[in-house]
Amino acid sequence: MRPLSTGSRALDELLGGGIGRKVLTQVYGAFATGKTTLAAQVALLNSGKTAYIDTEGGFSPERIALMAESRGIEPERALQKFLVFEPGDFKEQRRTLARLKTIVDGSFSLIVVDSITAHYRVEENKSKLLTELGKQLQILLWLSRKFNLGVIVVNQVHFDSKAGALKPVAEHVLGYKCKDILRLDRFSRPNIRVAVLERHRFRPEGGMVYFRITERGIEDMKD
Ligand SMILES: Nc1ncnc2c1ncn2[C@@H]1O[C@H](COP(=O)(O)OP(=O)(O)OP(=O)(O)O)[C@@H](O)[C@H]1O
Ligand SMILES: [Mg+2]
Repeated sequence: MRPLSTGSRALDELLGGGIGRKVLTQVYGAFATGKTTLAAQVALLNSGKTAYIDTEGGFSPERIALMAESRGIEPERALQKFLVFEPGDFKEQRRTLARLKTIVDGSFSLIVVDSITAHYRVEENKSKLLTELGKQLQILLWLSRKFNLGVIVVNQVHFDSKAGALKPVAEHVLGYKCKDILRLDRFSRPNIRVAVLERHRFRPEGGMVYFRITERGIEDMKD
């Protein structure tokens, strides 16, 4: 089955066709770089339902309705595609993911976890947490393979003082399980963003494209 289109030709090309199925795609970046917009847009533009795990309160029906309307999609129908979960902490997040095994079926094409690390970051014991995070990713991978789904794992950045740079949270565990990794950055112009392919199963790393964030969501520079 074909990958899930992002709705941006440039991004699809960068990703070798779009968000891959049977694989975890990590999308990470600083605030307001477009992570949630991208995830919502993939859900909106592809057939099949989306299980959306919102841990940051970033899921906005108003925003999705607006994106749908400006693309000629009926807002009500667009919103019906989303099954939204709002776990309150990292443990509940695990339970939610485990429950998806009995909820998700062939009518789904995508799972979004936005973000996988918001609850993770507020908890203390790091090594136990990393094990727990690994288990959550394992459930997602299992689901993606069983039901042929795309999975977008949204992640935040933190300042790594040793490296002197912004790094994805829990870089190693997430890097190990997510075969495709896309980083989103700001650009000098307010509504423009940059997407950098940091790793991919079959595309060269380091490729980058620019895109715009508009009322319609994510758009190519030229459209
Ligand atoms: N209706 C709209 N028209 C144009 N731009 C919009 C609209 N709604 C939101 N935006 C822009 O989208 C950006 C936020 O995107 P998004 O929420 O996807 O970022 P994010 O990476 O998920 O951020 P966070 O880390 O805070 O969750 C902001 O720059 C905002 O100005
Ligand atoms: Mg967000």
